[in-house]
Amino acid sequence: MSADIIDGKAISAAKRQELKREVSTFVAETGITPALAVVLVGEDPASEVYVRNKHKGCEEVGMKSVQIMLPATISETELLKIVSDLNKDDEVHGILVQLPLPSHINEKKVLELIEPDKDVDGFHPINVGRLVIGEECHQPCTPTGVMVMLETLGVNVSGKKAVVIGRSNIVGKPISMMLLKESATVTICHSRTVDLAAEVKQADIVVAAVGVPKMVTGDMLKKGAIVIDVGVNRTDEGLVGDVDFESCLPIAGAITPVPGGVGPMTIAMLLKATLKAAGFAVGNRTATIA
Ligand code: GUN
Repeated sequence: MSADIIDGKAISAAKRQELKREVSTFVAETGITPALAVVLVGEDPASEVYVRNKHKGCEEVGMKSVQIMLPATISETELLKIVSDLNKDDEVHGILVQLPLPSHINEKKVLELIEPDKDVDGFHPINVGRLVIGEECHQPCTPTGVMVMLETLGVNVSGKKAVVIGRSNIVGKPISMMLLKESATVTICHSRTVDLAAEVKQADIVVAAVGVPKMVTGDMLKKGAIVIDVGVNRTDEGLVGDVDFESCLPIAGAITPVPGGVGPMTIAMLLKATLKAAGFAVGNRTATIA
């Protein structure tokens, strides 16, 4: 039997519809329209597409979006001043500084200046810390999207063996914390892992976020494993995930495709985070948890 193919586009569309209703209720109750500010420095074509999609996404669910397009030559001091002004602006609830930034700007300095309650990316060390200790906070959007996907599929994570491949701050580490919070037994694998195949063989849930095309193959999987592919690798073959979809399909119980799997969830989670940020602004720390 072949695996169920997890339709990230459909799950994302349903989540956006749900969010549209939540935004409408929030606006009716508070008189506040949630607003996201996206800061883009320079003219990277891929980043421009992401920023445009974020803007469109906000409008579709009834939120405001402010796009701040800055030249690649902007100084670090000037950018820090812009972020600082956005922190103080009561009409902006969420702030996202699109990465990567030009090399003359210290990314860490910029991200750490963003007010944690407005940090819809969940990259600020305060939010990272809150995630680790299990407190309400903004969380990185891609791993949040993976968790929402699992929940939507009715996967009970509790007690399951989850193997995460990759230890990045954006996906590997936060998804590990999220799975742990839901009581999975989590193993984090990385470039120094001695026998990756043996680790993956144990897994009921595999999350691949390593940036190596087709690294996870069907022979590595336990029969029926749920396989979540976070990889986005641009190759001669086009967009390819970290999972070899063809060989995993007959072995997995369910699997995400690339594209059309995890990708579409990320923006839906960013929009959700903007509503959450607007909730924080009115002192509401629980009503809009993902
Ligand atoms: N560039 C690519 N993905 C992301 C993301 O999720 N957040 C930010 N800030 N920049 C990105």
